[in-house]
Amino acid sequence: MKGRVSAVGIVMGSTSDWEVMKEAAQQLKDFGVTYEARALSAHRTPAELTAWMEDMEKRGCKTFIAGAGAAAHLAGVVAAQTLLPVLGVPTPSKYLKGLDSLLSMVQMPKGIPVATFAIGEAGAANAGLFAVAMLALGDPALAKRLKAFRAKQADAVKRAKLPEL
Ligand code: RP5
Repeated sequence: MKGRVSAVGIVMGSTSDWEVMKEAAQQLKDFGVTYEARALSAHRTPAELTAWMEDMEKRGCKTFIAGAGAAAHLAGVVAAQTLLPVLGVPTPSKYLKGLDSLLSMVQMPKGIPVATFAIGEAGAANAGLFAVAMLALGDPALAKRLKAFRAKQADAVKRAKLPEL
C-alpha cells in the first residue's frame, strides 16, 4: 500500500500493538476506506515517525489513528505535528493493563487534543468507525454505508431473544 493515496494513517508504537490495532484497520477495510498502517515509535524512531506523517499528508491523509501502550505519548506526539484530527487508542500494557496508556492519552494538556477511545479492541474498532464518520461528512456514498451498518446493528438487537427461565 506504500506510496498510494491513503485517507487514514494508522500508527502504533510497536508491532506488539497490531493485535489490537488491526481492529481499526478492519473497520476501514470493511467500509472501503484507504489506509496505511505502520509501527513507528515516538521514542524509538521519532525522525521516521515525522517523515512518515509528512509523506501521509502529501498522499491525502485526512486523519491519524495512533495506538500505543504504557507511557503512551505517541498520539500526543503525532497530534503535535499535524493539524489533522488524531484519534488515540490506548493498548493494554503488561502491568497496568492499559490504564497507564489511557491516562497518558486522555490527559493531554490543553491546546493539542487527542480524541481518546477505550482501551483495547473496542477502542480500536471505534476509532476506525469514527474515522469513517468523519470522512462520511464529505462522502455521501460512505455515509450511506455507515447508515446501513448502524441499521444492521439495530436489527440484531431487535431480533435478539432472551433465554426462557
Ligand atoms: C509502547 O510500548 C508500544 O506502543 C507498546 O504498546 C509497548 C510495548 O512495546 P514492545 O516492548 O512490545 O515493543 O511503546
